[in-house]
Amino acid sequence: MLRVGALVSGGGTNLQAIMDAIDRDNIDAEVVCVVSSKDGAYALERAKARNIETAVMRKKDYPTSKDYDLALADYFKRRNVDLIVYAGFMLILGEAFVNQFENRMINIHPSLIPSFCGKGFYGLHVHEAVLKAGVKVTGATVHFVTAECDAGPIILQKAVDVLDDDTPETLQKRVMEQAEWVIYPEAVKLFAENKLEIVDGIVKRR
Ligand code: GRF
Repeated sequence: MLRVGALVSGGGTNLQAIMDAIDRDNIDAEVVCVVSSKDGAYALERAKARNIETAVMRKKDYPTSKDYDLALADYFKRRNVDLIVYAGFMLILGEAFVNQFENRMINIHPSLIPSFCGKGFYGLHVHEAVLKAGVKVTGATVHFVTAECDAGPIILQKAVDVLDDDTPETLQKRVMEQAEWVIYPEAVKLFAENKLEIVDGIVKRR
């Protein structure tokens, strides 16, 4: 059984999609703990509704970024987590964290990486930039997390059409429904089944 820990900051719809898929598709995994960077994140309620352990760890309560990274790493290590899913987590963690879970952290980004990603591309900003550029296709990407923002090996991508009358809000909703909530659980399943292998920075299916 794969022990999954989640990092959240907001609504947690991706966390919900993962928890639902674990039950529905009999994925050999269990979300064992959910850590939020913010008080009051609705994702925490979704976890509590399933009796999953939750914690709030706010960066401002730690003297340095490194202290925060180490505290988070310690939290997940104590719970023997095998995989960490970033599910709408709004902070970028440094090497003190990511080096301890190499190839065991995954993230979802609401665009087709390497477009519209990196620092500053989060939330509605991503979809605003997509509409401004006038591209006709966008989507979502699940990737392994490395110290560089949105730059780790790509696991799955799914495309979504951009429509002429889209607003950032309508596009965000469609990308979530058609892509994010589909490919994030799928990536967790592939990881749980040990079907992912990274060869020279590229993800291959075993
Ligand atoms: C999603 O769009 C995700 O791609 C991005 O942040 C948003 C989180 O939404 N990383 P939720 O908290 O999963 O509902």
